[in-house]
Amino acid sequence: MELAKSTWKQVEKYLKSSTKVVIPIGSTEQHGPTGIFCTDYVIPERITIAACERTGTLVTPVISFGMSNHHLAFAGTVSLNPSTLMKVVEDVVGSLYHGGFREFLFVNGHGGNTSTLDAAFSEIREKYPDASLRAISWYKLPAVHKKAEKLFGKREGSHSTPSEISVTMHIFPGFVKKARKYEISTPDKKKVKYLPSAKEFRRLFKDGRMWSDPSLASEKHGKALFDLAVKELVKEIKDLGKE
Ligand code: NI
Repeated sequence: MELAKSTWKQVEKYLKSSTKVVIPIGSTEQHGPTGIFCTDYVIPERITIAACERTGTLVTPVISFGMSNHHLAFAGTVSLNPSTLMKVVEDVVGSLYHGGFREFLFVNGHGGNTSTLDAAFSEIREKYPDASLRAISWYKLPAVHKKAEKLFGKREGSHSTPSEISVTMHIFPGFVKKARKYEISTPDKKKVKYLPSAKEFRRLFKDGRMWSDPSLASEKHGKALFDLAVKELVKEIKDLGKE
């Protein structure tokens, strides 16, 4: 059930049988030489809508801007500072809590959001002690992670990955361009700080990839990963609030 396509009467009726709500979150940032800007938000958005359709759970519109400061040296990237994103998350949860929702699941599509989500949750838990909060990143769902490892091994990398590019190819058939084969050995992974500054990131990762080979991406792999993600997400939604 999509909040975007519901009336307030439908939401009030929904709340009589469930107080669960799922919130997709991602980022609007460069995704290497062939990846598109919506990659990190369209994937959580679409898998969450599919999983919520199966479980009859309410899903909000996606939070499409995330913490992408390290990508800012690539034009088009739009980033929220960690402090801003924390406020956004707090206000989204606060609004829904006000309406009567109590179990919140964030489905994330961007690694740069995770520590900010944790920090925001820490504040929200003190403010709303009876709220249950959980965040999962789709690419870390065990079956998805295992499949990506099997398909791409070390060529998966950390950004502009063949997994995420594959899923966007599945979502937008024929739209995302096929990449050429890429070198993945530089720079040395051990020498890179977790989140470099935007300038440093551009110097280290000239074409925007991080150790990935997006040439391995395909619509077929994308469909397999998408279906696995939806299946696992359905379980997560059913278990919501049980912990
Ligand atoms: Ni990404």
